[in-house]
Amino acid sequence: MAKLLLAPMEGLLDDVLREVLTAVGGYDLAVSEFIRVSGNLLPRRVFRQRCPELDRGSRTAAGTPLVVQLLGSDPTMLAENAAQLAMLAPAGIDLNFGCPAPTVNRHGGGATLLADPERLFSICSAVRQAIPAAIPFTAKMRLGISDTEKTLDCARALAAGGIVSLVVHARTRADGYRPPAHWEWVARVRSAVSVPVVANGEIWTAEDYRRCCVVSDGTDVMLGRGAVADPFLARRIRAQAAGERLNVDRSADWRELQPLLDVFWQRIGAKVHPPHAPGRLKLWLNALRRTFVEADILYQIVRPLRRVDEVEGALRAHGVPITPRASLAAQR
Ligand SMILES: Cc1cc2nc3c(=O)[nH]c(=O)nc-3n(C[C@H](O)[C@H](O)[C@H](O)COP(=O)(O)O)c2cc1C
Repeated sequence: MAKLLLAPMEGLLDDVLREVLTAVGGYDLAVSEFIRVSGNLLPRRVFRQRCPELDRGSRTAAGTPLVVQLLGSDPTMLAENAAQLAMLAPAGIDLNFGCPAPTVNRHGGGATLLADPERLFSICSAVRQAIPAAIPFTAKMRLGISDTEKTLDCARALAAGGIVSLVVHARTRADGYRPPAHWEWVARVRSAVSVPVVANGEIWTAEDYRRCCVVSDGTDVMLGRGAVADPFLARRIRAQAAGERLNVDRSADWRELQPLLDVFWQRIGAKVHPPHAPGRLKLWLNALRRTFVEADILYQIVRPLRRVDEVEGALRAHGVPITPRASLAAQR
């Protein structure tokens, strides 16, 4: 069966949302949002704070393995930090060669490295040598900075550097997040390297997945915004692949999601300062509007609300079974 991976998404898909999405199920693996490596050795507590799953055998509460992603540009610093991270026994270590953020790119990290395949090779070989062979070592790349001239050279450099699989976000940095994703380039990368290649970009529905498989000439994919907008996406893809009839009743899915909105709200309340909790909920509800009319209605109501108790009242009024004992209001 195909491998379905949950994408890293800094600022959106943290341990809390990972817990909820992997509880809905269908994922083989999740990758953490990037942890930035610059000029010093990060204390272990930084990795454990960003990825609390590390304290649970590097698994989400539902048991999905978590790979931890690092972002940086200096081979030695990345190697030293990867070795430090390896002590915490992550389910894998991934390197980010796709981030388009100007602050990251100014320091030579993320997608800018795609200009220099030799550097990609030195980074990967340094990290590979620094961590035990038993820890899966992977990378995630875009197609290039503004064109695909070096796509295949970059993929070959990463593979030669010792990664065991490669995720290709099928867009250049210049493409940003604009559709389409150029899945045909994933097929080219697949035939250029011998490691397994995972396609990523613009899979929002089971039908997108089917088309992506045909065009990219493979079945393994990583789901990003589509997974956040539709927590049932991986399950839908699996059902379709198994030849089952697709569940088209979105209101049944919404009912299944309601208790998980409570889990999300409780966990976010325990993690962030109370004034930030409503914002985190709005971010996810805004994404869910794409799939659920109920989420759209709830989002419109919650949007102007600033206070935790107001938001909690709105959630309750819309059928979200807020746990009273551990509710945020009770904690204050
Ligand atoms: C808000 C946001 C944050 C992201 N953070 C990361 C990140 O930390 N590491 C990474 O490799 N990719 C990151 N990405 C890229 C996604 O993992 C994924 O490659 C991209 O969204 C394309 O997949 P999609 O079309 O399924 O969303 C981020 C994307 C978004 C929209």
